[in-house]
Amino acid sequence: MKIIRTKDYQDMSRKAANIISAQMILKDDSVLGLATGSTPIGIYDQLVDWYKKGDLDFSKITTVNLDEYKGLPKENDQSYWYFMNKNLFSRVNIRPDYHFLPDGTNLDSDNECERYEKLIDSLGGIDLQLLGLGRNGHIGFNEPCDSFPQDVHVVDLTESTIEANKRFFASADDVPKQAYTMGVGTILRAKAILLVVSGKDKAEALNAVVNGPITPQVPGSVLRLHPNVIIVADEDALSEM
Ligand code: GLP
Repeated sequence: MKIIRTKDYQDMSRKAANIISAQMILKDDSVLGLATGSTPIGIYDQLVDWYKKGDLDFSKITTVNLDEYKGLPKENDQSYWYFMNKNLFSRVNIRPDYHFLPDGTNLDSDNECERYEKLIDSLGGIDLQLLGLGRNGHIGFNEPCDSFPQDVHVVDLTESTIEANKRFFASADDVPKQAYTMGVGTILRAKAILLVVSGKDKAEALNAVVNGPITPQVPGSVLRLHPNVIIVADEDALSEM
């Protein structure tokens, strides 16, 4: 695990964007695993900026996102599809049929999970997976639990996640209670993983990920078993280490 310390959010965003852009330059048809949440927004802004300056090309890139709320259609402004379209897809030259998310409108969970896992397999695996970290140590929507879920699955969101995400909704009652997410196994099959963490409210979770026991109670701790993980974190996020 390599930990890159940055002075603040902006520095974290630029350094992480540099790592993603290096991947895109080294392999112009990379499969990128992408993440939502507030943490990666600065990274997407930076990538868009480099794209506009002619330094980055998304024309052969494929993307697969970690997760999506079950029940939310693309047009819902809180869906992760909407978020990705707003923050990245609509701003770069990525081909329309080459960015994928779980389909929140497919209410047949077994069918959707199988479809999405197979789709990721059919792409030949993920070259670089971007991850944020939940305040309870979750990655994607893999919430603390008793065993590491392997494949794409449907999860009941924890109170703490609903609480953390309610800022994006009119009220906590409006936050969907379930989501589709890549499993821990799906994430670990990525060739490389880039975990980005910012802010004091993540410091305890990051410390548990890096220094605590490897346990499904802290889903991010499983990343220590992967041979190629880079953490880019700002000073606030590293303040408990
Ligand atoms: C959500 C997402 C995660 C994300 C986490 C942290 O629960 N499913 O993928 O990492 O929030 O979000 P933020 O970056 O806004 O703190």
